Amino acid sequence: MRDSKQKDGTSHRTIYAFTFLVSITMLIFLFVWRPMLLPYFFRYFKLIISEAMSDEQRVLDNQLQLAHKEWRTYQIESRFGQEWCKENVQARSDVTWLTIVVDDNFVVPALVLAHSIQTFSCHKNMIALISDTVAEETRRALQRVGWDIRVVEAMDCDWLDAKMGFARNGGLFERPGSFRIKGTHTRFHAWNYTEFSKIIYADADYMLMTNIDQLFDIPDDFAATPGNRPGVVNPCFNAGFLVFRPDAKYYQGIMDLWLETTQRDTCPDDQVLLWHYYADAGNWRALPYSFNIRLIIYRPFNSYHFAGGKGGYHPPKPWSADCRPSRKEAAEYDRPIVDIADVEIVFWKNFYQLLKRYKLEDWWRSTKLFRPKQEFGLVPYADCKRGHQ
Ligand SMILES: *[C@@H]1O[C@H](CO)[C@@H](O)[C@H](O)[C@H]1NC(C)=O
Repeated sequence: MRDSKQKDGTSHRTIYAFTFLVSITMLIFLFVWRPMLLPYFFRYFKLIISEAMSDEQRVLDNQLQLAHKEWRTYQIESRFGQEWCKENVQARSDVTWLTIVVDDNFVVPALVLAHSIQTFSCHKNMIALISDTVAEETRRALQRVGWDIRVVEAMDCDWLDAKMGFARNGGLFERPGSFRIKGTHTRFHAWNYTEFSKIIYADADYMLMTNIDQLFDIPDDFAATPGNRPGVVNPCFNAGFLVFRPDAKYYQGIMDLWLETTQRDTCPDDQVLLWHYYADAGNWRALPYSFNIRLIIYRPFNSYHFAGGKGGYHPPKPWSADCRPSRKEAAEYDRPIVDIADVEIVFWKNFYQLLKRYKLEDWWRSTKLFRPKQEFGLVPYADCKRGHQ
């Protein structure tokens, strides 16, 4: 950072010196040979100054153009994407989308994810791994939007402890019990789904903004996005979005590594385990950050992942946040996305839409997540957010 600032300083000095020399030459030219050109010269000089002053604005204007174009593409793809698929893409049964629903709250983002896959993807295999704790009505809602429900054994560190027959506590990387999310390792089951040549796994709080089916065709066995946007060094990947080839050999390898590290040390969480298994072995393809954008607006805006949600740094998840936009405001939303609050409104726009499309309104009203006052109220989303800061 500092290096680049110094470099900027040096190049600025060079520009100043150059400008000075040119100006002197011009002055001699104007005053000695062509005094008639003087007014033109001053006008030109004024323009250069104002151009330099507004440079940052020009960059912002350009970004806004990009945002406009992207929003327009989003609308066109939402409306005609499936027609395009029918005309251009052969349906495939050897690839699938995959997610996990760990509890009844996560049904909200899982429905939005499904809706976004149905809107943008040409491939409609969608598997949701759930544990037997997920309520029957929740399962039916998930099936309505196209999830193929597979009830699997929920795997996490407690599960492994019980399997190994010991109570383990502490350790350097151990998360306190209250922070532990149940069933974190459950997705490992999918490595054994060898009927598929490729799986795209996305956390349930991931939302597609365009068609990314090309990832089903990458030759690599394992791909994920780096932990941070370009420009911020982060040696690890974020495991909330993965593209991988299932293989019994990998499945066994991951399970063995988990058992082995847990016996030797503390129980690593699933992301850490995948780092060790794939990244340590140099068997990791880094995908562009655009496929797993978190916490910031970044372009191309292929997707958004409502990651985090604990602590002040992360914005709360839309479905558990204090505020949500009314149905009217969400329906009327029609402007480029430039802010996280915009993405949140798009999230709800999709959610309210899918309630209609998949006839889930009655179910929604029967859940404790339904908030009639906000959904049918008149308070603008931004005002509500300001009131809850
Ligand atoms: C993995 O899949 C195979 C074949 O479908 C099955 O026989 C086996 O039980 C599975 N392994 C586990 C641990 O689920």
